[in-house]
Amino acid sequence: MWDLKGQTAVVTGGTKGIGKATVLEFLELGARVLFTARNKQDVVNFEKELQDKGFEAIGIVSDVSVQEDREKTVHWVQNNWQALDILVNNAGVNIRKKALDYSEEEFQKVLNINLIAPFELSRALHPFLKKSKVGTVINVASVAALQDVGTGTPYAMAKSGLLQQTRSLAVEWAQEGIRVNAVSPWFTETPLTEGFLKQDERMNGILGRTPLKRIAKAEEMASIIAFLAMEKSSYITGQNIIADGGMSINAI
Ligand SMILES: NC(=O)c1ccc[n+]([C@@H]2O[C@H](COP(=O)([O-])OP(=O)(O)OC[C@H]3O[C@@H](n4cnc5c(N)ncnc54)[C@H](OP(=O)(O)O)[C@@H]3O)[C@@H](O)[C@H]2O)c1
Repeated sequence: MWDLKGQTAVVTGGTKGIGKATVLEFLELGARVLFTARNKQDVVNFEKELQDKGFEAIGIVSDVSVQEDREKTVHWVQNNWQALDILVNNAGVNIRKKALDYSEEEFQKVLNINLIAPFELSRALHPFLKKSKVGTVINVASVAALQDVGTGTPYAMAKSGLLQQTRSLAVEWAQEGIRVNAVSPWFTETPLTEGFLKQDERMNGILGRTPLKRIAKAEEMASIIAFLAMEKSSYITGQNIIADGGMSINAI
């Protein structure tokens, strides 16, 4: 059971960072993977790279915040797999500002991608997760859902809502054999944080608060996501695994 042999998985935001590491981890564990992202060239390149390695992976261009794009993902699953074992709602973005500086459009964008889209995609794929009998949803949240870490309020609100979405759907869908869990990373080396982490003052501040004295690698998030996707974690639902190098339990 320490593998995902024959399982079907959808990973949103699968061309970079934590999503890309998750796609690779799933494939190495024997799953078949459908990944999504907005940038067509990135999708085409990553799909080719994976297929050249002999993996069963398909990429589609799909913006999680656009309903017609989500439908493309749903139709693909319906036409090719019928049942879906694993959904990873990973795609996320942030716009880091003071509360008073957000335009309505920026605020809506952060909420749509991080909070509304996982709800809509989980609901749309529910019939296929139900057919699987071992369906699991894994939402990628953030430590920003639990305390203020300077990310800006909309992102923190969205990720916090995503955690309650995780708990509420876990209860609602438990009878159908679907587990719903979340992973909350602290700073992880990905394109999302690259620019921010290049600033020495910021990096030193982060390391100063982190007992393990380093930021995470995307692969360290992917392995937690894989564990939650496996039958090995079959009694865990509605939970949030905080992967933060000890940051949130450090009171000094
Ligand atoms: N890195 C961190 O330190 C950190 C910490 C806490 C939480 N997180 C969370 O972890 C998740 C992954 O973050 P990351 O650092 O790996 O980000 P990343 O390096 O920016 O990668 C994000 C991926 O999602 C895709 N994406 C973005 N918006 C999308 C959309 N609307 N529809 C479909 N795909 C979309 C991107 O491709 P396209 O741009 O081509 O669409 C890319 O493949 C996010 O939910 C983030 O909030 C990250």
